[in-house]
Amino acid sequence: MRLLTVFTAVLVVASAQTATNQFPEGFMFGAATAAYQIEGAWNEDGKGESIQDYYFHNHPELIIGGVTGDVACDSYHRYQEDVQMLKALNADVYRFSISWPRVLPNGDLDVINQAGIDYYNNLINELLANGIQPLVTMYHWDLPQALQYIGGWSNELMAEYFVEYARVLFENYGDRVKWWITFNEPAVFVNGYATESAAPSQPASGIGDYLATHTIVKAHARVWHLYDEQFRAAQNGSVGITLNMDWPAALTNSTEDEEAGERARQFQMGIFAHPIYTQDGDYPAVVRQLVDANSEAEGRPRSRLPTFTQEEIEYIRGSADFFGMNHYATTYVTSGVTGESPSKTRDSAVISSSHERNPWGLRNQLNWVANQYPGYPIIISENGYANAGALNDTDRIEYFTACLGAVLEAINTDGVPVIGYAAWSLMDDLEWNWGFILKYGLYEVDFNSPNRTRTPKESAGFMAELFSSKQLPDQYN
Ligand code: BGC
Repeated sequence: MRLLTVFTAVLVVASAQTATNQFPEGFMFGAATAAYQIEGAWNEDGKGESIQDYYFHNHPELIIGGVTGDVACDSYHRYQEDVQMLKALNADVYRFSISWPRVLPNGDLDVINQAGIDYYNNLINELLANGIQPLVTMYHWDLPQALQYIGGWSNELMAEYFVEYARVLFENYGDRVKWWITFNEPAVFVNGYATESAAPSQPASGIGDYLATHTIVKAHARVWHLYDEQFRAAQNGSVGITLNMDWPAALTNSTEDEEAGERARQFQMGIFAHPIYTQDGDYPAVVRQLVDANSEAEGRPRSRLPTFTQEEIEYIRGSADFFGMNHYATTYVTSGVTGESPSKTRDSAVISSSHERNPWGLRNQLNWVANQYPGYPIIISENGYANAGALNDTDRIEYFTACLGAVLEAINTDGVPVIGYAAWSLMDDLEWNWGFILKYGLYEVDFNSPNRTRTPKESAGFMAELFSSKQLPDQYN
């Protein structure tokens, strides 16, 4: 009896150890990229100009090194190598984005570019032939420039154009693509409507970014409904959106700073997530109230943040099958008014101080998302670490292991329903205004070689093991 008890206790300890090291059955591991950051071929085979092409060509002074994505990693010509890299990583999924102007050069249905359709067909087929599932982002910041000339995301009509573009994608790829992300990180790309230093460079701070937000939330919901009503029965996939935060943590444990942390979360993530993922729908109350009050105090006849009708609120809420979440760092925040007037920062009454990369920020963020928006599986669609470049990137391995340990705790201890994880990035790429100097890749890319030679870093070998065993090695647990 005693022996049996001891034996049982050993078994329990052993299985508890396995449980904390082990990712759940069916967990999806992979790596992520985005079209403008890797494809190149910016004007080849009928591709139209995007707002990123326009921005990088016209604002070299805002980009480190004055570089562009004209060639980038040349993945338009080297996608087969990319798939082999993913295969060597034992990836279950590849998260990539489709360039809207490669498929619809003018953004509209007047021209459908068959070469663009073919490119993504080839990529998808190559992935599937190698046992890798596509996880496709429809919009990773490269709007057709033709649509920017009519206002881009600040024009509510953009939702119509986005729905038609999405229909082209479902019709052409939906038989094989089962995971769709409508938008990547709208909290980041609406800045292009608040400042000059991001495409499309429209500095209407505190106004344009809210108009864009309003259109994006509606456009997302319309695409989910399109899928739900016209494609789901035949294609049986899932549609979500990817939202990000650098976990806002209170600088001190004062009530004011704790409240500032929560306000920061609602202004960054809640402004998109609350309308879609909560029972009540609509913008978070704190956001509504602060923007309305400031708009009134500024003597405006209307709030800078547009309003949804009751019908829209109901149409938007529940319009997702999963929650895509990106996380890179923690930001310490404190209460106080800063930033130009008007601006989202000023409306939020939050002052951000230092940034830090730590695992608990990710665990807290996962718990916060799971509590605020219960009932949705979460895919971590980006998590990554930048350095200045090195093949023996032990710093990156340490970052990934710390973060994945936090993900395991969130799953196994806190019960957060995380179902997948994509590392940013498959390879070094064009890091927006940072040009080519920030390196996020599991693979190094030699941007001076005409072949854009790819070389695995140490982290690639490490992740390949982890992706195949789905287990965090003991020493990191
Ligand atoms: C974006 C990526 C970017 C990465 C690293 C995320 O905000 O989705 O496009 O390269 O962060 O900066």
